[in-house]
Amino acid sequence: MYSPEKDGEVLLKGIKMDRKKTVLVSGGAGYIGSHTSVELINAGYDVVVIDNLSNSEKDSIEGIKRITGKNVPFEIVDTCDQEALKKVFEKYEFDSVIHFAAYKAVGESMAEPLKYYTNNLISFMNIVEMMKKYNRPNILFSSSATVYGEAEILPVTEETPRQAPTSPYGNTKQMSEDILRDCCRAYAVLHGIALRYFNPIGAHPSALIGELPRGVPNNLVPFVTQTAAGIRECLSVFGNDYDTPDGTCLRDYIDIVDLAKAHVAAVNRMVAGKMEDKYEIFNIGTGNPVSVLELLTTFEEVNQLKLPYKIVERRPGDVTAVWADTAKANNILGWKAERTLGETLKSAWEWEKRIRKI
Ligand code: NAD
Ligand code: WQD
Repeated sequence: MYSPEKDGEVLLKGIKMDRKKTVLVSGGAGYIGSHTSVELINAGYDVVVIDNLSNSEKDSIEGIKRITGKNVPFEIVDTCDQEALKKVFEKYEFDSVIHFAAYKAVGESMAEPLKYYTNNLISFMNIVEMMKKYNRPNILFSSSATVYGEAEILPVTEETPRQAPTSPYGNTKQMSEDILRDCCRAYAVLHGIALRYFNPIGAHPSALIGELPRGVPNNLVPFVTQTAAGIRECLSVFGNDYDTPDGTCLRDYIDIVDLAKAHVAAVNRMVAGKMEDKYEIFNIGTGNPVSVLELLTTFEEVNQLKLPYKIVERRPGDVTAVWADTAKANNILGWKAERTLGETLKSAWEWEKRIRKI
């Protein structure tokens, strides 16, 4: 006879959910969360999305449904609101949480540090608190290569010492990593993985979901696609006098679908009980340094267009170069970036064209 207890399944409003195979995705309407939800569903997981839509649109949930053909329970919830979060934990059964919900604009965090400390830390601590209270064992946290700052030795491994944070945003990532480490140590139920993303770019090949920055983009690729679309007049390249082969900064640009798949690999590891430590960290990048000018040239080549750009002063706070040593993610998660830079930049342009109706 079917036994929810024995089979680890619960019946929820007529939907049968297996708690081991169900993931709560906070911030799942956002750029990385929506792509990760798609890949989780493709891998056989059920996904519950919560988001307060402070930096996203509900359309992305429709996009997830259209790509996967699956229903996705979605609730508008602010993760800083403990009572609302409690209801989510009481309503749905899941063993794993991926916590994306955070503000992410480095410049804004300098101007409004309290906004960042409040949202990013309270939201994260609330999630961890609920997981402890409701015995939910697995949490995946969105960290960032920003923790490495200007590293002395490249590529950076997970053992490379973190540098003092240069922005409140970066500080919330370091503090959240430390909170997670301490909580995993202290609370028997809790297992955590921090994924340190390098520079996520591109869009889903369907062009149904992608990055949707509000206002003037801070990041390179959305600025490039908006310039190509004629929304911005000219791209400013921030400095060509760095100590790099062509004088522009080097970064590790990771395709968004590859990044999403890294989350699936990490959730698989947690769900299978394969973690060697209760708290683990993985770099998620390609391992290939790419300069700003190389990225621009590739964008022009694959999309057959010319991009107006000019060289301007360096942007304060930019590091010269950072890219990942990906051996740990490759060997332990069994994950590797697959899409080429050209494929990714093509997808970024296809997405921009679709949303601008070009
Ligand atoms: P995003 O802004 O597109 O997605 C974040 C989502 O969280 C948004 O939909 C937003 O509405 C939601 N959100 C924010 N605060 C919330 C709250 N209090 N309650 C509920 N929802 C809330 O950003 P993204 O690029 O998808 O980033 C996801 C995560 O990855 C963030 O934690 C970010 O710091 C981290 N990260 C991003 C990058 C990057 O370059 N995109 C790099 C490294 C790390
Ligand atoms: C990439 C390169 C710029 C815009 C930021 C955050 C980091 C992480 C990812 C969240 C740099 C150059 C950019 C432009 C340019 N986010 N550039 N003209 O700075 O590596 O990282 O996003 O965790 O924390 O700091 O990414 O896309 O802003 O810049 O020349 O208009 O492109 O100087 O070399 P960055 P980016």
